[in-house]
Amino acid sequence: MSAAPSFSWPSDFVWGVSTSSYQIEGAAQEDGRGPSIWDARCRTRGKIADGHTGDVACDHYHRYPEDIALMKGLGLDAYRFSVAWPRVLPRGRGAVNEAGLAFYDRLIDGLLEAGIEPWLCLYHWDLPQALDDLGGWTNRDCAGWFADYAALVARRYGDRVKRWATFNEFSVFTLFGYAIDWGAPGVTDRAAHLRAIHHVNLAHGAGVDVLRATVKDASIGAVHNRQRVLPEKDTDEDRAAAALLDAHWNGAFPDPQLLGFYPALIAGEIEPYVAAGDMARICRPIDWFGLNHYGPIFAKPDPNGVWNFAWGADLSEAPRSDIGWPIYPEHFRDELLDLTRRFRLPVYVTENGAGGRDKPDADGRIDDRHRIRYLEAYTGAMREAVAAGADVRGYFVWSLLDNFEWGNGYNDRFGLVHVDFDTQRRTPKASAQWYADMIKGALGRRAP
Ligand code: FCB
Repeated sequence: MSAAPSFSWPSDFVWGVSTSSYQIEGAAQEDGRGPSIWDARCRTRGKIADGHTGDVACDHYHRYPEDIALMKGLGLDAYRFSVAWPRVLPRGRGAVNEAGLAFYDRLIDGLLEAGIEPWLCLYHWDLPQALDDLGGWTNRDCAGWFADYAALVARRYGDRVKRWATFNEFSVFTLFGYAIDWGAPGVTDRAAHLRAIHHVNLAHGAGVDVLRATVKDASIGAVHNRQRVLPEKDTDEDRAAAALLDAHWNGAFPDPQLLGFYPALIAGEIEPYVAAGDMARICRPIDWFGLNHYGPIFAKPDPNGVWNFAWGADLSEAPRSDIGWPIYPEHFRDELLDLTRRFRLPVYVTENGAGGRDKPDADGRIDDRHRIRYLEAYTGAMREAVAAGADVRGYFVWSLLDNFEWGNGYNDRFGLVHVDFDTQRRTPKASAQWYADMIKGALGRRAP
């Protein structure tokens, strides 16, 4: 793929990396942090590969200065991280944990000193366990609890943080948490899933209002996962499964939040949970669209599932990442163009990257060419999209560090920087140097 020779990135194009609280912080029982639904899941036998937990993770809670220095070395403009709700409100509401709030003060101040803009995401899946005990996202009150938490965080950091995202990957954590049991809290029930979808949408709308009212000059967005959903086989049944999964995966959150309606295939089922005025509460003006994109997903029917779909396989010969995820950069290009047309918002790619089983070689180097090839192909596709008119304003690699990759524990490594989880030693991989060079090169190609 090649873009026109005259190509230049938009003048304020942002280059960054993304992480999330539970995946890197560790210090799970320290300084007053309360338990989250992911702590509970990690303690449920059989849910996480090799019984791994996020108790220590990358120990970022203590090693954040080193991690900021690594980011500075890469020449990054921005860093997207999430706040752990149970670290600042151990029971989800009520008593505030000052020590938890102080941690993010130190992190934010360190980033600003290093010239890296903090992008704060309020929710990357670690719901306080105390709220789950009250029904979590299946309880309509959870939208209000989220708004109160958002207000606390916005008041505390709004003087220094201007880039805010309400949630990360709405459809992943609701689908995997309430319909498929690939994530916390691991409920599999259609009504619970439908309620969770609607209440999370309400929480997003309430969060946007709080941020707008609290943070001067806030730039507010939400982070959606969107990837093409393809039928595993070319049959009517597989196509129907793919259409339904597509409505859930790609439509159930961006459509109500930005267009004011649920996708036709699920609207009727959500209807009973929608109160008068709800769609207006959900559909609030925001400033940018955050896109997390890796590759397409595949569907097949599953008459025994909560919904009549299950994950299918890619039966084609398409290339795969080291951990088996299919690689289709052209879908990424098309997605960026589609988003620009459909939602008419500036787009930030808030996650993109490749998983591997990266290990140091005899000299201690991690030569992750597979990741460099992936990033080259995907940033190339992004250039093509920008050249063709997609309004893309920034790109964040997932992830800075190898980390706790949810159900796969520490086995799937997505970092530009290798982490030895026995010693916590960080070693930049070849891809880290590639990314630093790419950013340097792109700076010379920014429009005036
Ligand atoms: C996304 C998640 C992120 C990480 C990457 C690999 O779905 O947002 O936390 O797990 O996938």
